[in-house]
Amino acid sequence: MNIDGKPYRTIWLAHDGRSVEIIDQTRLPHAFEIATLATTEDAARAILTMQVRGAPLIGATAAYGVALAMAADPSDVNLAAAIDHLGRQRPTAVNLKWALEEMRRTLKPLAPSERMSAAYAKAADIVEDDMTSCRRIGVHGVGLIERIATHKRPGARVNILTHCNAGWLACVDWGTATSPIYHAFDAGLPVHVWVDETRPRNQGASLTAFELGRHGVPHTIVADNAGGHLMQHGLVDMCIVGSDRVTAIGDVANKIGTYLKALAAFDNRVPFYVAMPHSTIDWNLERGADIPIEERSPDEVLKMTGRLPDGSIVTTDIAAPGSPALNPAFDVTPARYVTGFITERGICQATRDGLLELYPERAAGS
Ligand code: MRU
Repeated sequence: MNIDGKPYRTIWLAHDGRSVEIIDQTRLPHAFEIATLATTEDAARAILTMQVRGAPLIGATAAYGVALAMAADPSDVNLAAAIDHLGRQRPTAVNLKWALEEMRRTLKPLAPSERMSAAYAKAADIVEDDMTSCRRIGVHGVGLIERIATHKRPGARVNILTHCNAGWLACVDWGTATSPIYHAFDAGLPVHVWVDETRPRNQGASLTAFELGRHGVPHTIVADNAGGHLMQHGLVDMCIVGSDRVTAIGDVANKIGTYLKALAAFDNRVPFYVAMPHSTIDWNLERGADIPIEERSPDEVLKMTGRLPDGSIVTTDIAAPGSPALNPAFDVTPARYVTGFITERGICQATRDGLLELYPERAAGS
């Protein structure tokens, strides 16, 4: 998508054809900086420290992390070690495991001498797959927004609430939850986005607001606790969120706080959609309760980072000194609160049968 009129992706191969460049998301929205990943360890650290984050982008970065490992040493031992190491960096988003499994499946049968070029080609495929999937999520999802726009009085805006950043910064391009929004905006539909700030790391206020703003999409940041109130007052036409893992029966792991938005949406009869590519579906897991939930540093709750008037970026304490904090990074929304899934293959019910209608090849015995 565009930043001030210039098209960007979140990850690309550097001019040397070997290292990888990313937008350093720990610096946004205050500074726009490109970081170079020259080693597998750089890729692992970028995932762990959230220089890159968002389920699809974590997967794409890990794929290039394996390519960097193959450039350094294409042996069986190094292939296994790189996949293991990269896979340990963040536990909840299944896209990480999916991308690493794709890399393993492609590279393991090859002779070591063939692995480096095959690894870069496969990583590029994974990036391409994500861009295509996300674009198609928008093509399918825009109809939902169009339908609401048609039923509103002419010119009235369609208000969409989203949580965290499931935008192009979380993917390679387009985003998942934001793709229908960008498609609607680009088609001239009157969209407006309520952006949950998304404590504790503020991916909504810092990343979603940044990317929507730079593309020109009207939006307003709201405190996480405001969503229910907005829904009660008829100010939300629909919610669209992303996901880090959808189970085979349709339970949805996403950024902490998503569940509460789904409950509020259910109580207020606001449609609650989850947008995700095929790489986010964990066909091996049934119950949302079995999804591993990442627990992050209490410092993310106890401190806040911001920019001072002199331009310096500082992190400061915001809580009572000495008080402990707990920081689960994701929660699970049971499928019954999800109106539907928006995927690259179309829209379906949030049930096993709904998912299998779109992905019939996943049916047992097929
Ligand atoms: O901790 P993060 O920033 O990686 O969490 C990201 C989210 O929860 C997104 O909503 C999710 O990955 C969907 S991204 C298309």
